[in-house]
Amino acid sequence: MKKFIIKGPNNAAKGEVNISGAKNSCLPLMAASILFNNKVILKNVPFVKDVYTMKDLLVSLGANVDVSESEKIMIINNKKKHKLIVPYKLVSTMRAGVLTMGPLLSRYPQKKIKVALGGGCALGVRDTNWHLAGFKSLGANFDLDKGYVNISSKKGLIGSRYKFPKVTVTGTSNVIMASILAKGTHYIKNISIEPEVIDLINFLNSSGANIKFLGKRTIKIRGVKELISGTHKIIGDRIEAFSYLCVGAITNGKILIKNINPKFLKSEISILKKIGHKIETKENSINFLPGKKLKNVNIKTGPYPNFATDNMPSILAVLTTVQGKSVIQETIFSNRFMAAPELNRMGAKISIKKNKAIIIGQKKLKSADCISSDLRSTFSIILGAIAAKGTSTISRIYHGLRGYYNLELKLKTIGIKITSKK
Ligand code: EPU
Repeated sequence: MKKFIIKGPNNAAKGEVNISGAKNSCLPLMAASILFNNKVILKNVPFVKDVYTMKDLLVSLGANVDVSESEKIMIINNKKKHKLIVPYKLVSTMRAGVLTMGPLLSRYPQKKIKVALGGGCALGVRDTNWHLAGFKSLGANFDLDKGYVNISSKKGLIGSRYKFPKVTVTGTSNVIMASILAKGTHYIKNISIEPEVIDLINFLNSSGANIKFLGKRTIKIRGVKELISGTHKIIGDRIEAFSYLCVGAITNGKILIKNINPKFLKSEISILKKIGHKIETKENSINFLPGKKLKNVNIKTGPYPNFATDNMPSILAVLTTVQGKSVIQETIFSNRFMAAPELNRMGAKISIKKNKAIIIGQKKLKSADCISSDLRSTFSIILGAIAAKGTSTISRIYHGLRGYYNLELKLKTIGIKITSKK
């Protein structure tokens, strides 16, 4: 199994990073291809592990998928009738497999669709009850059997109303996709407005769907008979972009982040500025410049446009070296401080109290051999190792490779002393 070896401390990282397409846009867009009889062409595809897992899932359902990694293109053809079973093997390794429920239900409402439930994951309990309640509001029925949910709708799907009790990202995408080919009009309240959900809405509308915003978090979807073939360029990955901004922050370097809309990172950029870093933004890039007197901060994660939970592990690592006491409150997942014990093994001082991390900034971190346990905490541990004196190793980096494209190469490009071995 591949390990990273990082020699530190790496000071003042310097250079440019080209941000890939957003994984969390790409996965629902791929699932949305199920709604089409015709071809879907996705551009700016990030060929990370999760994207290949979703490709395998689509192929197992009967789709034909061609990819060109060098051109960042994926062509999905869903001409054949789909198999209506989503196996546990594929949902257990990548939770986003549940995103196939909505489009399968929309396209085959009167058939029985059988989808494995993902259950919990490294981040804590991850339910799908609000996805299912959203399908129910369209007239679908479901029952659970041996870890699978069977969904169908005898009369077909008919638009009505649904309000999410709390914001859910894939729940929103799933219920939107289920509504696309339904009869009548479906109103959905309290939706997620993460840039990746907006990307999905834009793609569906440009392919013939009829989704209109009635307010900030309310949409109206008038069902259509079919979607025309669609081509879409995936937005840049705001989580990847912020991760590299944090390399700038922890090394107090100078990094130009390209192919990212800075508006997606408003809360995060304002936190980096509060810490004392200089940031310049252009339409599609962010320039990180070193700061002088760095200050501790308090952060609370939340649904977009608040500070993203996916960006929290990276800022956690950054704050371990900022003098003073910082507090991070995590409001989305119950178990998102998985990097903290590993960072503490490098000399960080983080204590966890319920959903808060209290961080006492240290002057220096020291190298350690670490194990990563989930996607975003991998990057957090990498950040610690970048700052720590000595040679650190990080094992189980396959977690990180689920969501970061060309991770080692991109870090090398900005001067980080990183190698890998099996
Ligand atoms: N929740 C429920 N019931 C539901 C749905 C959600 O209780 O039916 C709860 C969850 O347990 C969680 C909270 O609501 O506590 C929010 O979860 P959400 O549904 O928004 O998360 P998700 O859609 O499963 C996506 C991203 C995650 C990201 C979260 C939060 C994708 C494929 N995944 O997950 O990304 O952390 O939104 O922004 O878009 C990652 O990329 O590392 C990652 C984990």
